[in-house]
Amino acid sequence: MGEALGNVRRTNMCGELNREHIGQTVTVMGWIQTSRDKGSIIFSDVRDRAGICQVVFREEVAPAALEKAKGLRREYCVAITGQVAARESVNPNLPTGEIEINATELKILSESETPPIQVMENLDAREDVRMKYRYLDLRRPDMQRILFLRSRAAHSVREYFNQNGFIEVETPTLARSTPEGARDYLVPSRNYPGTFYALPQSPQLFKQLLMVAGFDRYFQVVKCFRDEDLRANRQPEFTQIDIETSFLGEVEIQTLNEGLIQKVFQDVLNVEIPVPFERLPYREAMDRFGSDKPDLRFGMEIKNITDAVRDTDFVVFRQAIDNGGSVRALVLEDGADTGRKDLDRLGEFVKTYKAKGLATVALKADGIKASIGKFFDEAGLARIAEACGAKTGDLILIVADKDSVVFQSLGALRLELAKKHGLIPQDVFKFVWVTEFPLLEYSEEESRYVAAHHPFTSPMDEDIELMASDPGKVRAKAYDMVLNGEELGGGSIRIHRQDLQERMFQLLGFTQEEAWARFGYLLEAFKYGPPPHGGLAFGFDRLIMFLAGTDNIKDVIAFPKNQNAFCPLTEAPNVVDDKQLKELGIALAKSEPVREESQE
Ligand code: AMO
Ligand code: AMP
Repeated sequence: MGEALGNVRRTNMCGELNREHIGQTVTVMGWIQTSRDKGSIIFSDVRDRAGICQVVFREEVAPAALEKAKGLRREYCVAITGQVAARESVNPNLPTGEIEINATELKILSESETPPIQVMENLDAREDVRMKYRYLDLRRPDMQRILFLRSRAAHSVREYFNQNGFIEVETPTLARSTPEGARDYLVPSRNYPGTFYALPQSPQLFKQLLMVAGFDRYFQVVKCFRDEDLRANRQPEFTQIDIETSFLGEVEIQTLNEGLIQKVFQDVLNVEIPVPFERLPYREAMDRFGSDKPDLRFGMEIKNITDAVRDTDFVVFRQAIDNGGSVRALVLEDGADTGRKDLDRLGEFVKTYKAKGLATVALKADGIKASIGKFFDEAGLARIAEACGAKTGDLILIVADKDSVVFQSLGALRLELAKKHGLIPQDVFKFVWVTEFPLLEYSEEESRYVAAHHPFTSPMDEDIELMASDPGKVRAKAYDMVLNGEELGGGSIRIHRQDLQERMFQLLGFTQEEAWARFGYLLEAFKYGPPPHGGLAFGFDRLIMFLAGTDNIKDVIAFPKNQNAFCPLTEAPNVVDDKQLKELGIALAKSEPVREESQE
């Protein structure tokens, strides 16, 4: 039930009313936050997207409105007319806390059932319920703030690229499989039964074709689709800011994108981001931080102590060194008094990253206490302490293994210790470019090299020779923008020479026929004067997470999917009519749809 709007028109937003409106007759429209019935007087808080204001229904002012207001419940949609007056008891917590509206008329535009979640800030409700009733969840001021912020950020992005000579071009969603390496979402074709479109994992090949087409500078704010395991910062459909340019080198592309970041942070948060960002070659990032997305908000760098223990008989270190691995350490300042239990827990922690153990050396004031005391004398331990720059009072944590395991485990331990000991400064934005990524990664699973970024990424000129002799050592003209330990974006200079592209495909184990079968349209295009080109893509949702200060990607997406790629609101994915399947020439192997219960 509800009344028609009739001739009533809104004059003001609830949240914008203040002392200057006192004496004016206004009409506001919105939702009932609360209504307190005190008999001859009712206080209602009315909310719209601009904020909340107090409305008072008084017997002596408007008895009919008061009578009607007795029926008001939470989330009723109302139109209220009245005169703005100074409030007797000012509410300093509310921007509109100095005024109230003395209601003369009330229209109940629509009623609401008792809402299954409360429309309030900092709501503590189950996520699946919030997602099922997303439209109520989105009425909450904190969610509205994030979506307005997202809209402002998107505007700022477009403004930046327009100012810098970029053209925004839309690329197809019904496309062919792209080479980003995740699983595709497929769409069956009715016209060609048995064939499928793939939803793009990124517009990678289209944007390269736009460079061949001579557009020179392209950008797009675009949905991408990847069927992969979901995490707190991953969604199956997410948004990229996608960029491609012609005739520029890595540094110029990076500089352009630093400018974008500067503008967006300025426009949205009024925060000044210093440029240029630090640049760390991949190898150095791994050596110092054990990660290709290092968090530079704090120090605690990894130290290589292989030389200090090179002569040891301790079999664990010995084997690691002899097998071409290394022995590396972290120093926890003032950590020497860490208790037995905590040390055991840290030992278990590194084991989840495949380390076989964690050796500890505590430089206590009354002497050194080491889990490897049996294998090192006083002088040996002192050499270790010196090699990693530890002083009395510190705790040294050591992993010996092949490099990949040492980096993974110590990189993760570094973050874990920093979190636990409060070493990470908040409200700091620490950007870094990680550069010179390896071109290839060896896949044990497939017993072949796979592209570390994608197969169109160019090797560094000085490493091209290594493609024949030592492919694993070839570095790429690839770069990631990292913010506070998260990958915000990544890109590369592309291969634009056909001979080089063919060598790359060879390394990846594609025959010429296979390469042409998958990417023939790009290779064909490259016959017609392709310009040197390169670009980058940002995870727009991730950028918004930083701007909004949330660590849950679902908070920044209006209608997200849950951890099982399911939408509790629309219940997608869902079954379709037999007729639709028949038209597509599809027969299901199982007649009953299988859907795992949501685990959230
Ligand atoms: P890449 O695969 O590194 O590069 O993706 C670019 C950025 O997109 C974001 N991202 C995601 N965000 C949310 N959910 C996901 N599932 C997800 N997957 C990726 C990350 C990432 O840095 N075509 C290349 C770009 C290029 O070379 O120009 C590409 O897509 O923030
Ligand atoms: P053990 O001889 O098994 O008592 O081991 C002595 C110490 O070496 C223990 O603290 C183990 O956790 C540690 N340790 C075992 N394997 C490794 C490894 N791969 N790297 C570093 N420390 C290890």
